[in-house]
Amino acid sequence: MKHLIDPTDLTKPEIDEIISLAQDIIAHRERYQGSMSHRKLATLFYEPSTRTRLSFTSAMMELGGNVLGFSDARSSSVSKGESVQDTVRVVGCFADVIAMRHHIEGAQLYATEVSTVPIINAGDGSHSHPTQTLTDLLTIQRELGHIDGITIGFCGDLRFGRTVHSLIKALTRYKDIKVILIAPDELKLPDYIKQDVCERTGIPYREVETMEEVMGELDVLYMTRVQKERFLDEDEFDRVKDSFVLDSARMSLAKQEMAVLHPLPRVNEILTEVDSDPRAAYFRQVENGKFVREALIVKLLEWKDDPAHGMPEDEEPIVDPELRCPNRKCICNNEHAPHKFHRAENGVLRCWYCDSKVR
Ligand code: CP
Repeated sequence: MKHLIDPTDLTKPEIDEIISLAQDIIAHRERYQGSMSHRKLATLFYEPSTRTRLSFTSAMMELGGNVLGFSDARSSSVSKGESVQDTVRVVGCFADVIAMRHHIEGAQLYATEVSTVPIINAGDGSHSHPTQTLTDLLTIQRELGHIDGITIGFCGDLRFGRTVHSLIKALTRYKDIKVILIAPDELKLPDYIKQDVCERTGIPYREVETMEEVMGELDVLYMTRVQKERFLDEDEFDRVKDSFVLDSARMSLAKQEMAVLHPLPRVNEILTEVDSDPRAAYFRQVENGKFVREALIVKLLEWKDDPAHGMPEDEEPIVDPELRCPNRKCICNNEHAPHKFHRAENGVLRCWYCDSKVR
């Protein structure tokens, strides 16, 4: 069965199909109204959300389907101790597809091991956010007319920013991508993305200290919020929270056809004076999220029983009773998920669920 847990669960032709269907939905909305009548989407949100949950809800409504679920797990039997796997087994009796957000990394992957319906990862901790990635790809395509060949600058919290990790993974599917990383030392991109993704697939990347030195090179500037909720140390957050701010003066250094993306919410990293700049694409990006989620729901239900659209072939997990995942926010340190591992191409052993380096 096809789930969407990580952007690499989709082949390039599958990404193309979803983006192309989203564009057709935008052009011919009336054709798709009612196409999901009698189908149900469950939204299980263990962590706050505005855009992702409401855009999934709106997407299913536009398709004529119904939506059930919770936006606060404390109002569900999770508060009585029900596990992620039991919850999805139960909800699979009520819904055709599940969109789940969880603060615990790997929770959705663990859920797929028992689910009878497709699961969509709507964000797991700092790890991954593949439907934001589809939103970002559709936005780049619509703003610039192409994705191949872009130079993209990621700015801000590249350490905890799951949307950054997922988008870089997806960009490995495209040609001639250049990545520029703009972040303070404390918020640099995790090594596993640099080594296992960029270096392994040959995407050139470089790390810089200021926005000014690269603004003129960028086709896309991808701004991010410094994620206070992921810091264990408040002093560390205070040191970096105002690291990079996009204002009109910095925009004047950029190309006329550059696009500014931001997954939102923003705090102070883009001044509101930038909102009226035609290159500010972040509110158009929000609406693209609804269309691309419509396309994703349609495609996942179409592919559900099609062997041509399964999950990527996994290697056998490595299990060693001596080894534990070091990430306390990983599902295997929070529920009874087994500690199991995969070996990256560079030989590093990583957690099966959250990709943390084990040794
Ligand atoms: N972009 C995004 O994931 O926003 P929400 O947290 O509001 O869903």
